[in-house]
Amino acid sequence: MATGIPGKNAYISNSINTNISFQLNYEGKIPAEHVLKTQPAKLKHVVTVDKNLKNKLIYGENLRVLSSLLKDPTVAGKVGLIYIDPPYATGSSFESRKSDHAYHDCMEGAVYLEFLRQRLILLKELLSEQGAIYVHLDENMAFPVKIIMDEIFGARNFRNWITRKKCNPKNYTRKQYGNVADYILFYTKTDKYTWNQPFEAWTEAAIKKEYQYVEEGTGRLYKKVPIHAPGTRKGSTGKPWRGMLPPPGKHWQYTPETLDEMDARGEIYWSPTGNPRRKVYLDNSQGIGVQDIWLDYKDAHNQNIKITGYPTEKNPDLIKRIILASSNAGDLILDAFAGSGTTAAVAEELGRQWITIDNSPLAIATIIKRLVQGSEVMGDFVNGNNFQSRQMSLIDTKRVLHSGLDFYIEEHPELETIDESLIKDWDSKLNLETKYIRPLSI
Ligand SMILES: C[S@@+](CC[C@H](N)C(=O)[O-])C[C@H]1O[C@@H](n2cnc3c(N)ncnc32)[C@H](O)[C@@H]1O
Repeated sequence: MATGIPGKNAYISNSINTNISFQLNYEGKIPAEHVLKTQPAKLKHVVTVDKNLKNKLIYGENLRVLSSLLKDPTVAGKVGLIYIDPPYATGSSFESRKSDHAYHDCMEGAVYLEFLRQRLILLKELLSEQGAIYVHLDENMAFPVKIIMDEIFGARNFRNWITRKKCNPKNYTRKQYGNVADYILFYTKTDKYTWNQPFEAWTEAAIKKEYQYVEEGTGRLYKKVPIHAPGTRKGSTGKPWRGMLPPPGKHWQYTPETLDEMDARGEIYWSPTGNPRRKVYLDNSQGIGVQDIWLDYKDAHNQNIKITGYPTEKNPDLIKRIILASSNAGDLILDAFAGSGTTAAVAEELGRQWITIDNSPLAIATIIKRLVQGSEVMGDFVNGNNFQSRQMSLIDTKRVLHSGLDFYIEEHPELETIDESLIKDWDSKLNLETKYIRPLSI
């Protein structure tokens, strides 16, 4: 695989401006300044679970709720990480495994794009300078959303287009390749962002292939890598070292002094023809840096996996990878399309503070149940009623919520009422002090 030389020696005519940006235009695209003036939600604080750390669960239309969060100085510009998994423009409605209505995903084309764009504009304002945003989509809309995100966050802040294997191969009857991938677009607010490099452990097979040499005397496994890199340099890395010039079009990766020190430590391998290479030792490696294709995070795919039963619920381990890489303990994490509350549950487990929003009563009911008693193994849904009596032992009774919680409801005529019974016996299950600030239905 050839590596290009960034911007070096490229021939560009002076009359050509190489940096012309482009935008996606469609009917109904409103100016960003108007989006920023969105009428904030009227939020009613209905329940508080007292602890020092306060997370927020918000039932409401996320555009208005995000606008109200922008008015909160403890949140605006303070969110360290955003993960969203919005509707994908599938043209479908979704139900839970128990056939209860969850949400509609009926917007398509420009209407869908504008829906998401408006929320992304507000989300960017909520992010801290070190913050990151991950947007989970499928092949329907990932391409135009990438262009929209370049507009909002700046193409220079685009970090990765992650391809995730979402399910096992299907028995496709269509005349096309099986579809097992979806995509996560990763952007940061600036180039000074939180990043904890994730690694995958070396496998025996990968070690055998990669680290083929054993150092005499120490027994350390190593591989040999070039000590030069593409591009010419005028400074000391472009000058001869031990009488040798770097190969044409290349430069030394280190100054001659550093190369001398490395050689003195025995870290340079000299081939019989006098060609120097650097030794890279297996025992100095933390593992293989995670790449942008993720194969190990399929959504619920076997009977032992715990789920809530909410449709389109994501694999918690996928969210865990994202949270660990792009936030630190105590950071504030936001998911404005909460669904079953996967982001909140994982953020809670990892000691992050969180805010999560959804406008589906079933999503809110699912999140509350999940915070109180965790998720359940998938088996109870697919095995049928005959096995009900065996399910009790499988229920995870360990509650997820350990820190505090404020539950808000948006007051808006378009929103369905939330059932009061939802939170009736929170305190006994949570074993934390719960205060009912106001009844839900007023
Ligand atoms: C794909 S699901 C999210 C699933 C979630 N990642 C999980 O792991 O369970 C999308 C969610 O977005 C919610 N949603 C869609 N439009 C919304 C809006 N305008 N405001 C708030 N929530 C919305 C839906 O109710 C649905 O629960």
